[in-house]
Amino acid sequence: MASPSPSRAAGHRVVFFPFPYQGHFNPVLRLAGALHARGVAVTVFHTDLRAPDPADYPSDYRFVSVPVHVPPELVASEDIARLVMELNASCAEPFKEHLTALLAEEGEEAGGVRCVITDVIWYSAQAAARELGVPALGFMTSSAASFRSFMVYPALIEKGYLPVQEENKDDPVEVLPPFRVKDLQRIETSSLADFATLLGHTVDGARKSSGLIINTVEAIEAVDLDMIRVDMSIPVFAVGPLNKLAPPVKSSLYELQQDRRCLDWLGKQAPGSVVYVSFGSLAAMDPHDFVELAWGLAGSKRPFIWVVRPSLIRGFESGGDLPRGFWDEVGDRGRIVDWAPQDEVLAHPAVGAFLTHNGWNSTMEAVSEGVPMISRPFLGDQYGNAMFVCHVWKVGVEVQVDNQLERGKIQDAIAELMENKEGREIRERITKLKETAEKSIEESGLSHTAFLNLAGLIFSL
Ligand code: UDX
Repeated sequence: MASPSPSRAAGHRVVFFPFPYQGHFNPVLRLAGALHARGVAVTVFHTDLRAPDPADYPSDYRFVSVPVHVPPELVASEDIARLVMELNASCAEPFKEHLTALLAEEGEEAGGVRCVITDVIWYSAQAAARELGVPALGFMTSSAASFRSFMVYPALIEKGYLPVQEENKDDPVEVLPPFRVKDLQRIETSSLADFATLLGHTVDGARKSSGLIINTVEAIEAVDLDMIRVDMSIPVFAVGPLNKLAPPVKSSLYELQQDRRCLDWLGKQAPGSVVYVSFGSLAAMDPHDFVELAWGLAGSKRPFIWVVRPSLIRGFESGGDLPRGFWDEVGDRGRIVDWAPQDEVLAHPAVGAFLTHNGWNSTMEAVSEGVPMISRPFLGDQYGNAMFVCHVWKVGVEVQVDNQLERGKIQDAIAELMENKEGREIRERITKLKETAEKSIEESGLSHTAFLNLAGLIFSL
């Protein structure tokens, strides 16, 4: 494999096409940052829906806006499967046109466009690149286990595991150990048929790609990675945790500013005392759960930072109404922010627990900072990620995964994690997992090596 170096790589351009959701955007841009540091010239194609701010990136990045036309009601809806497919349908032609223009501009003399790296769910862009003769690599923003569940999704439906029913929810899924039925990915606000179609297109696209990049750690997901390799016969690169391999991504796609004042406040809190609460960029919660969570945090007597982004609470466009008397109870013990500098918050020694939806980025970020988790998944892969966190790696506790939230249960989960003997054991285990992740990105670690192999492949294309 060619060994990449900044001078040799100069002029080699890679087109990155992240999907316009924060949890999909961040890891792709982190990978772009890591390859840029190796000398790759970066072009970011992005949809005109939720565009990044170029000012947040190195000045030699090029940004190309790809227009998409999807009904605003669909964008605002929670029918994620339909939206993703509509975005694919809408972007295929404009993506191809912009890539054609870039190819004409970036001739071989300038180094040429080596390849495109798109989110695996941009299957139409992958196909468009291939039609133009440009190698396409897929980027899986979630875990290897999650990708494996994409691969067996038709069998999950055929064998009757899905849709999840009250009677079968605790049954083991024989084609996908160690999942139980209730851990399987699904989007309750989309039809199962649509979701299955979307995953089918995604897996087909990945099979035809020149490689699959996953933000995971070989030593943590070896079994799933091996199964993907055997089944897909394309190179699979486990390059995580990318938040440690690459520079931070500052911009929010939702025009939210990171509230950095919470870092000053964190600096005044005792080590390991603060609960950080965030449910990522997609989850929507009922007003009832919001109120229970507010009182759960207030009653925990612990300091906390809680991310309440606009659209978190169903039916409210700009955060929900906190219950009367909340701030009287909490005083200076809590901070509510629209958007946090999550990387820095999780890395802060004052943070002792993370109440999370277990989006894969958040999960990897918590693992790589050694922060134990309280898991409350909402949709998609988050159920399976929470199962790994709480039942396989045993570095977290669940809170009411199947039910509406209750303040007392939230307080119990916080106490269990931060005060009890079980909490101490969980903290010890996550420290070990953090060390595993750290080793992987050291000079000869497996993620570092996979990253170099990926860079080598790109320069050889
Ligand atoms: C969803 C899926 O659940 C996830 O597994 C998939 O890979 C991407 O889509 P999302 O809800 O966005 O994810 O959560 P997550 O994967 O955790 O990503 C959120 C990102 O936003 C993280 O990188 C996190 O650090 C960042 N973030 C979140 C902030 O920077 N500030 C915040 O206040 C909240």
